[in-house]
Parts: sequence; structure tokens; C-alpha cells
Amino acid sequence: MKKEWAILNPAGAKRIVATKDLPGNTWRKVLSENDCRIEVCTSPAALAVNKLRSALGTTCDGVIGQLNETWDNDLLSALHAAGGRVYCNYAVGFDNVDVRAATSLGIAIGNTPEVLTEATAEMGVALTFAAARRVTEADDFMRAGKFTGWRHSLFLGELLTGRTLGVVGAGRIGSAYARMMVEGHKMSLMYFNTKPNTELENYVASYGKFLGGVGQSSVTCRRASTIEELLSAADVIALFPALNEKTFHLLDGKRLSLMKEHAVLVNLSRGPVIDETALVQHCRTHPNFRAGLDVYEKEPKTAQGLLALSNVVLAPHLGSATLWTREAMATLAARNVAAVLNGFPAWDGGSVLKFLGESPPKAAPSIVNARGVGMISLES
Ligand code: DGY
Repeated sequence: MKKEWAILNPAGAKRIVATKDLPGNTWRKVLSENDCRIEVCTSPAALAVNKLRSALGTTCDGVIGQLNETWDNDLLSALHAAGGRVYCNYAVGFDNVDVRAATSLGIAIGNTPEVLTEATAEMGVALTFAAARRVTEADDFMRAGKFTGWRHSLFLGELLTGRTLGVVGAGRIGSAYARMMVEGHKMSLMYFNTKPNTELENYVASYGKFLGGVGQSSVTCRRASTIEELLSAADVIALFPALNEKTFHLLDGKRLSLMKEHAVLVNLSRGPVIDETALVQHCRTHPNFRAGLDVYEKEPKTAQGLLALSNVVLAPHLGSATLWTREAMATLAARNVAAVLNGFPAWDGGSVLKFLGESPPKAAPSIVNARGVGMISLES
């Protein structure tokens, strides 16, 4: 074993590969208590495919992997050949995994939803206001010693209270972000989603009623019938769709041009949802438009010219980056792996937060190919 790998519970009968060391101890405890030997890559660098393949070796029961690794048919076949039955992505998104290939190989694919919902939504709020109020430009200005006293015209930004919010992808994270922005800043909501989100609609309606009852302007919620309608009406546009063939370059140059001159765009989903080269061009020609980005089309690379734009705020894919969240994600990942290897069924009982406690249900908290993306049966 090379120096960049550490072994935990060496006597465990099942061999699990964790392609990165994860925070907290619970995940290690869960796997050790389930008779797993855990081989952890301690190097912070993303592992290239040849290193991932050699880490699988000839015997590997399961893997906890990262969103910046491509688990395609070849790699999943290598896991299958090593006897692997489960791969869990340390993320809620799983666009880096060929789920259909996994399903046909009989490999369960886990993810870590729910525990990162609020953290990712909060990061969306942070980027929205950083962009709207030009926080990073102002920070640079201060650090450069340029502040010579209050000026009425310094870094004028956008007031968001009472404006229109457009959310593209109103799933768990998009809805949490929408609630934070509607409730906190009395924004009216327009959302674009494949299905109506009645829970979110009812939430906004109740809040609007409350505001009306205390003599304040109400807020409204409406599902846009086209993305174009949302883009031209919203003052803030926030992107939360899963990445797939339909959402690749959802925002291309043509659609970007529909946005208001002073609009704020934030992306917390996946980079390829925006044509990043077109975005650079749009930001160059629309100096009052602002963007807050957490994800990039070709991470960790960024499109030429992006880093030079002062009307864009950039974060290095930090959506779920709080310690509590990342520990909880590790716990869910370990519970997914242990449960599949124990032959437990996939959980269909609602919230997965129960899996963070000492006595979790006898089930795998979140298996994406047990619910529609090419079905798999886990029961042995
Ligand atoms: C995820 O889990 O998919 C997020 O991108 C993490 O920030």
C-alpha cells in the first residue's frame, strides 16, 4: 500500500475504498462495526482514473467516492469485477456516475441528500448578496488601501427586498433557498420546474397572507410556463437543477440576453448548466449585471476571462462546505455502503436524518437506482 493510503480496521472482512478521507469519526465507526476494512486515500488531490482503478484492486466490496471522479461504465465494471456491490457519491448530485451502467452491473448507487440542503441554500444566499452588494469588489478595494473616506457613489449595488426571485429547479435545495429569500427579503417567487411544487406554493401563500395581515405588501408565487418567461421577469435568477442532457447549457447566450440589465444570477447546481464562455461575454457587455458562481463548466478550470470580471463573485464549489454537513454526509455515505452489504432494502420512509442517530432504520438511506433511474433491487 502506497503512502497516500491509510488503513482503518485492518481485520475487517469486507474491503471498502474511500477515495478521500472524510471528516468526523461516525462514518469510520459505522463501517468498522459492520466488519469493514477501510482503505482511505489521504492525498487531497483528485485521483486520476488509473489510480482509482488500481485502488479497487481485485477485491473491493464498496466505494465512497467524490463528485470530481468520473464513475463511468469502465470504472464501475472494474468495481463489479472486484466483487463490488455499492458505490456512494459523497454528494447529493450524481451526474459523475453512469447510473444506468451501475444498474445493469447490479451496483447500488448511493448519494447524501437532505443533510446538505440548508448549507447549500445558505451558500446560495451568501453568493446572491455578495454579488448584489458587490462585497468582493469592496473587499479588494479595502485591502488595496483605496478607502479614503465615505463616498455617496461608492459600489452602488442592488436592493433585493420586495423584488422578484426566479428559481430554476425547485427541488429540496432550490425550495430551501426560495424560502430563505422570500421570507427573509419579502421577494415574490417565480419558479421553473418540471412539476408543480405545491408545498412551496402554499408556503409562500401563507407567508403572503401573514404579511398582508400585518399591513405589509404581500408576496406571491407563480410557476413559470417557460424558462424564458422567468429569465425576463426576475431580478434574481438562481439555478438549482440537476445536470443532465436537458439542462446542459440551459443558459446559453440567447437566454442570458433575456435577463434584465441589473439582474443577479447565481449557480449552485453544476457548472455545465451555463455556457460559461457565453456568460463571460454577457458579463463583459453588461457591466450592471452580476453573477455569483459556486460551480464551473470544466472544474477546476474556468472559462477564459472569467477571473478578470469584477461583476462576478466566485467560490470554489463550497455549497455543502460546513463541518456539520460534511460529517453528516460521511455518516450517510457509510450507512448506505454498510446497509447494501448487509442486504438491507433502500429506505422509502421519508427523511434520512434518522440515519444520523445511534439506532438507524435497517435500510440504506439513499440509493438513487432504487427509485427510478434504472431500478435495482437491494434485497439479497
Ligand atoms: C453536491 O453535493 O452535489 C454539491 O454540489 C456539494 O456542494
